[in-house]
Amino acid sequence: MCGIVAYTGSSQAIPFLLDGLKTLEYRGYDSAGVEVLAQDGSLAGVKCVGRVSALVEKCQTRDLRSTCGIAHTRWATHGAPTDRNAHPHTSCDGRVAIVHNGIIENYRSLREELQARGHEFRSETDSEVIAHLVEEALRGPAAGDVVEALRRATRRLEGSWAVAAISADDPGTVACARKGSPLVLAATDGGAYAASDITALAGITSHVIQLDDGQLARMDPSGAVTVYDASGSEVAKPDTLDIDWDASAATLGGYDDFMAKEIAEQPAAIERLLRGRLSDGRINLDELDLTDDEIAAIDRIYVVACGTSLHVGLLARRFIEGWARIPVVAEAASEFIYEDVLVTDHTLCVIITQSGETADTLAAARKMHAAGAKVFAITNVLGSTAARESDGVLYIQAGPEVSVCSTKAYTAQMVAATILALLLAQKNGHMATGEVARRFRELARVPDLMRVVLDRSWQAKAAAREFVHAPSALFIGRGVNSATASEGALKLKEVSYLHAEAYAAGEMKHGPIALLEPSFPVVAIVPRDSVRDKTVSNIQEVIARGATCVAVATDGDEDVASLVERVMWIPDCPENIVPMVAILHLQVLARYVALARGCDVDKPRNLAKSVTVE
Ligand code: AGP
Ligand code: GLU
Repeated sequence: MCGIVAYTGSSQAIPFLLDGLKTLEYRGYDSAGVEVLAQDGSLAGVKCVGRVSALVEKCQTRDLRSTCGIAHTRWATHGAPTDRNAHPHTSCDGRVAIVHNGIIENYRSLREELQARGHEFRSETDSEVIAHLVEEALRGPAAGDVVEALRRATRRLEGSWAVAAISADDPGTVACARKGSPLVLAATDGGAYAASDITALAGITSHVIQLDDGQLARMDPSGAVTVYDASGSEVAKPDTLDIDWDASAATLGGYDDFMAKEIAEQPAAIERLLRGRLSDGRINLDELDLTDDEIAAIDRIYVVACGTSLHVGLLARRFIEGWARIPVVAEAASEFIYEDVLVTDHTLCVIITQSGETADTLAAARKMHAAGAKVFAITNVLGSTAARESDGVLYIQAGPEVSVCSTKAYTAQMVAATILALLLAQKNGHMATGEVARRFRELARVPDLMRVVLDRSWQAKAAAREFVHAPSALFIGRGVNSATASEGALKLKEVSYLHAEAYAAGEMKHGPIALLEPSFPVVAIVPRDSVRDKTVSNIQEVIARGATCVAVATDGDEDVASLVERVMWIPDCPENIVPMVAILHLQVLARYVALARGCDVDKPRNLAKSVTVE
């Protein structure tokens, strides 16, 4: 997590640095800071706890005119979110400043070593050691060359980093290094730019340089960017990426918040994703990049992901096992990385990650690669680490997801997983072509079904009243909708800070039912499907304890309506489609509860959009 931006060139640095931080704020927002090379040749900086807006205000009180600088928005891992722990961190002599994204795992021993040599530390962060190591290198073998100094410093580091550094001893140069945390650069006539994420470079360039792990870069005021490998040799052909920007995609465009905008964008995102995926009754998924024989031979699939993406994984397991008859393990990446895995020559690993930068998911993918499995990524972010390190990539094309709370990526990833399941089933012969085409046609109805639900947002808005003052909430569902319950509960707790728990409806009687008391809110996802009657019995159990039940039910199901306090209606649709449609009500519900409780729905406390540490 955390966002880094850097600039050197012929223009003023501060406007880009602050705008860039605003764009990257979703990556972390505990504190923010900026450091520039001042006109007198010294370094000058401002940093403070809180949002980028607080930093912007503070910057107005200082003379920060400069054409070279670095900036950071933090998601604290080591040391509380305080002014002192905010980045950039400077060396003892104040002539070096660095920003860092990641974790320096051996920072304790480095810190002790540096302190023994007389360095004084001002923060509790792991990152500060980098500033002192660069300072030492500049005093010694790397005199006057901040890139070489950073290269020498990173040789001492263990862990993960994206770093940008400036020094008064090498005026105008910005040094960058990457291992495990993303960093992209742009070389333009007006200057050289760096950022954690391409979104900060929108409108600046459509051609970015992507640093690989272990590489460093020199940003020159002329606008040139030179990439080096870990030994310091110039890389002749750095990795590049061309971007097709839709500059309006990352703006609010009339919506009150990104969560509202991204909820509303779901039908269009699914339409984009489905385009061209079926021809002559066959699923097109060339991105998988396996031969028909290789697909037919797949004997086991591991689906690994985190958070919302993991909830997609739980559904992917059902679809793949049900249709393609391949055993699937779906697991949280953070747990999976410590487990024994059974990999044969025919094992496939599917990672699902909106950002493509989630450290746990990347670690799981690397583990599977090392074990000999092919890795297929379902991701949203073009050129992300997940995309670059996988054997095949399916981009969900949902457009930038800015709200920390994932909404459109969830449904688009679910559709992507469905396409994958259909392809596997078709190729390995477990589903006939006619059946594949029928299922695909069902999928193609999803955007319109979603539009119907969005038109009924008032139902979720009305239901939100039952939750605003509740101490806790329970979400129940069965079958495919146990994942819907989990995702609904995650949305609610994430944006409204209301404790919420999800339970498979049938499991409720084995414990959670003890929580129920009069007016305790319970959300039951009870569409008209193969398990509806069982879930209705669970609703009866809830009501018998005096709890308040709010249901997501299928149009016309008056029996359910007569039982519960309120209903959020969904149109009649096939069982495997319901999770893609029903969740919209729960997203809207979470948003309205959060707004009524005065929460910032786009930037919930303690969270970051991409979690780039394990
Ligand atoms: C979703 O609302 C959460 N913010 C979070 O659970 C997220 O889904 C998770 O961190 C995984 O992110 P990824 O999809 O980018 O890997
Ligand atoms: N580990 C560093 C810190 O806690 C950087 C965290 C980040 O990536 O924002 O300051």
